[in-house]
Amino acid sequence: MKPTAGIIGIGHYLPEKIITNEDLVAQGLDTSDDWIQSRTGIRERRIISEEENTSTLALEAARKAIQSAGIDTSTIGLVVVATSTSDYGGFPSVACQVQHALGLPNIPAFDISAACTGFNYALTTAQQYIENNMVKTALVIGADALSKIMDWTDRNTCILFGDGAGAVVLSQTEKSKGIHYAELFSDGSQAEILKIDNERIEMEGRAVFKVAVKNVVPSISEAILKAGLKNEDIDFLIPHQANIRIIKQMSDRLGLSDDKVVTNLEKYGNTSAASIPIALSEAFEKKRISSGDTLVLVGFGAGFTWGINILEWEL
Ligand code: ACO
Repeated sequence: MKPTAGIIGIGHYLPEKIITNEDLVAQGLDTSDDWIQSRTGIRERRIISEEENTSTLALEAARKAIQSAGIDTSTIGLVVVATSTSDYGGFPSVACQVQHALGLPNIPAFDISAACTGFNYALTTAQQYIENNMVKTALVIGADALSKIMDWTDRNTCILFGDGAGAVVLSQTEKSKGIHYAELFSDGSQAEILKIDNERIEMEGRAVFKVAVKNVVPSISEAILKAGLKNEDIDFLIPHQANIRIIKQMSDRLGLSDDKVVTNLEKYGNTSAASIPIALSEAFEKKRISSGDTLVLVGFGAGFTWGINILEWEL
């Protein structure tokens, strides 16, 4: 019988520097706190300092996840990092930087690029390694520092994003717990609506909004059914923190009340691949989620990509 993969440790890290909506206005951006909050739900975001980079965020989150798992670091057999903003903009991967910094032996370590769906892609990839007995324990990280490629004069994009990292330790676990269902999607025909071109984010905001709601909601409903569950079995939805209005439309269409939806975008904005693990880690830290809860992690972003993981929480 195949082993099951479950999360046995979790942690997150956010840079200290805060940029509020008012700070953006003070910097000369033609916007207002009221406009940003009412259209997105975002109040402030975190930004890396000159000494920090994506790998430093990833490493801090990883150390916390390993500590929370209470494992010996040397038992980690795989490092997967979801990111679109690696330190070197290509190679070496952030995963190799983390592998070295943690003093791990020559295990597989690689980055995955699936924009804001990156954490779902990374988690699902590590899950396959564990279920197929290739490794017993994996470190899965979502880390991004989009501030590095932000055009701070473009009010269409710079109000939305922030930096951060979240990490989980995934390991072989009890059959009844762990990840029960995972599904990943992509539709490359929508590539143009959100892209990094000439090291700058370009986005058709309205199109992204529509594609997100149109594609993702039916996929969540189907995934819940395929996992043998009903919407009322879901204890918490942990969505990618893109925009409170997108999240609200999703939860309304799924019939999930606000108390079943984890959001923190008012404090951190959209941290891309880091947003789901940060939200999950905070919810765990605040004791909002507990052992036995059924969680649905939903990512969506550039590509266009989207992905769903349904799991029973065990910490
Ligand atoms: N402040 C003030 N006015 C603004 C701002 C701003 N920051 N940004 C745009 N406007 C203006 C526009 O110029 C436009 O003015 P006009 O009518 O004179 O032309 C007006 O506001 C309306 O612009 P829209 O783009 O139509 O505004 P909308 O209501 O769609 O809100 C937003 C824009 C917030 C970007 C919204 O479309 C959205 O959130 N889309 C989803 C984007 C997203 O979530 N992206 C990331 C998700 S995927 C991923 O995570 C990788």
